[in-house]
Amino acid sequence: MCGIIGYTGPRAAVPILIDGLKRLEYRGYDSAGLAVVADGRLSEVKAVGKVHQLEEALAAHAGLEEKSGCGIAHTRWATHGAPSTPNAHPHLDESGQIAIVHNGIIENYQELRRYLEGKGCHFRSQTDSEVIANLIAEAYEGDLLAATAATLEQLNGTYGIAVVSVRHPGLIVTARKGSPIVIGIGKGENLVASDVAALLAHTREVIYLDDGDIAVVTADRIDLRNVKNVPVEREIAKIDWDMGAAEKGNFPHFMLKEIFEQPETIENAIRGRIDHSMGTAVLAGMNLSPRELATISRIVIAGCGSSLHAGMLGEYYFEDIAGVSTSVEQAAEFRYRNPIIEPNTLVIPISQSGETADTIAAVREASAKGGVVTALCNVVGSTIAREAGRGIYLHAGPEISVASTKAFSSQVVVLLLYALMLGRNRRLSRSDGEELAREIEAVPGLIREVLREAPKIKEIADRYARFEDFFFIGRGCLYPTALEGALKLKEISYIHAEGYHAAELKHGPISLLDERHPVLALANDIPGKDKIIGNIQECRARKSPVVAVVTRGDSSVVKMTDDVIEIPPCSRFIAPLPTVVALQLFAYYVAVARGCEVDQPRNLAKSVTVE
Ligand code: M6R
Repeated sequence: MCGIIGYTGPRAAVPILIDGLKRLEYRGYDSAGLAVVADGRLSEVKAVGKVHQLEEALAAHAGLEEKSGCGIAHTRWATHGAPSTPNAHPHLDESGQIAIVHNGIIENYQELRRYLEGKGCHFRSQTDSEVIANLIAEAYEGDLLAATAATLEQLNGTYGIAVVSVRHPGLIVTARKGSPIVIGIGKGENLVASDVAALLAHTREVIYLDDGDIAVVTADRIDLRNVKNVPVEREIAKIDWDMGAAEKGNFPHFMLKEIFEQPETIENAIRGRIDHSMGTAVLAGMNLSPRELATISRIVIAGCGSSLHAGMLGEYYFEDIAGVSTSVEQAAEFRYRNPIIEPNTLVIPISQSGETADTIAAVREASAKGGVVTALCNVVGSTIAREAGRGIYLHAGPEISVASTKAFSSQVVVLLLYALMLGRNRRLSRSDGEELAREIEAVPGLIREVLREAPKIKEIADRYARFEDFFFIGRGCLYPTALEGALKLKEISYIHAEGYHAAELKHGPISLLDERHPVLALANDIPGKDKIIGNIQECRARKSPVVAVVTRGDSSVVKMTDDVIEIPPCSRFIAPLPTVVALQLFAYYVAVARGCEVDQPRNLAKSVTVE
């Protein structure tokens, strides 16, 4: 969703802001803009569309790009008001002296707007954000920090903001409540951003603001205060992602790069987490002793999108491997339906970004009800990681493509490790634990084998790219895998794709099947295969073309399908991993064949920070 970058220091601000915006592009946006304070002037430039359109608009501002100074910039994903130049950020107060960029939603903006209009203020945009600039101007008596703090007190809702003023060259005021802000510490310069990806080119040392924090940032000083205006100290965190991790390298798209990174990202997720001597997993971030673990009587998993699908696999793992009763909930449903959480309930929020609004709310609900919360996140220092207090990082590196691939597979692997640990804490024998540990360690190799099939998967995808509707079916652990495969295809290729439990087809959806509705059947040679063979026959009888994922060397399914994608042999718990990689490749090549914008699909955002 929206992204913020700000810079103060001796270098020219505009190129740094533009580079930062480009690194935030993956979050999804529909307009962009920047404001720079230099030579005693506040200049703003905005454009609808992509950052390169903003660069084109900059051509009309001769000399601005070379000016050193301080500035803020923003990519906007429209919520209040259509994507348009007036609605794009930054927003200036009416006098043009103060500029703000804002992520989040101001819930009482209409009331504030009426109040300001009553005082003669004219608004240029339909956004909820513009009130912030005008309230700061109204409160301003020579101190930008004090005026911003006074304004924030009037706001209901969420914000990550950055503020500059022509009267305070070289100074940025930034604050957060519910929407992340991270300060990048440079040498003789400092940066502000909503996401560390925008800072990597300049620094690895960052400070994450806590909710309620407000900071004054200049080139050589960072002054942090809490909600009560009391100076506070915040830890300096080191980012261990390298720049290459956030660049495409030789790949045409981030999504393809991230699919191909999976053998390494899964190795990273496993590294140091298996104890062969005990046939178990060691997850340090859990912070629970074996005795405390043994008291867990129930697990509730919450997440959205791909993270929800990973959670559904977690349910199979925790119940089957560890024997712990588990349920999975869409995080938005969890937060609003008053779930039962007991002291011995382990709540596992799953989120790649750690910033998904519904999942954050689920964490708060679970914590308020006294559950033991351990989060699975990829982004270090993200809101969920910090609020949960304990958890397990995925170590997948930055996932730039909007469609989740490597984060999903790492979530599944970490859930397997989690189930192994819980299983050994209960009914799983050491030898069974050791067997599962070996299977988990073999996953990167299995995925390498699937990646070698990419040319063949591309050839199949090219032939199916003309269809407009797809069904994905699976059973057991391959049921959530089918849901994930359908989600991948629909989000990046805009093909209508539905994932179903294979048994559910004949309870309704089968009425749609004909030669225009291909079925992608997950028919790996694991328990349940015989049943899915029956389901494939039902689809064939209705003339649906069938692409089957099968286990290499298993000829039993081949003759009843139009096309097959082969997966190396593996157990039912492991099968989702190589299978989902094949489905990611299939979705990717279909989207490319249809000329879709793979990394930034229309209407989608990388992290969904609104309800
Ligand atoms: O960052 P999160 O894991 O919390 O994000 C959840 C979903 O928004 C995300 O998985 C989304 O469904 C992806 N676009 C799927 O590819």
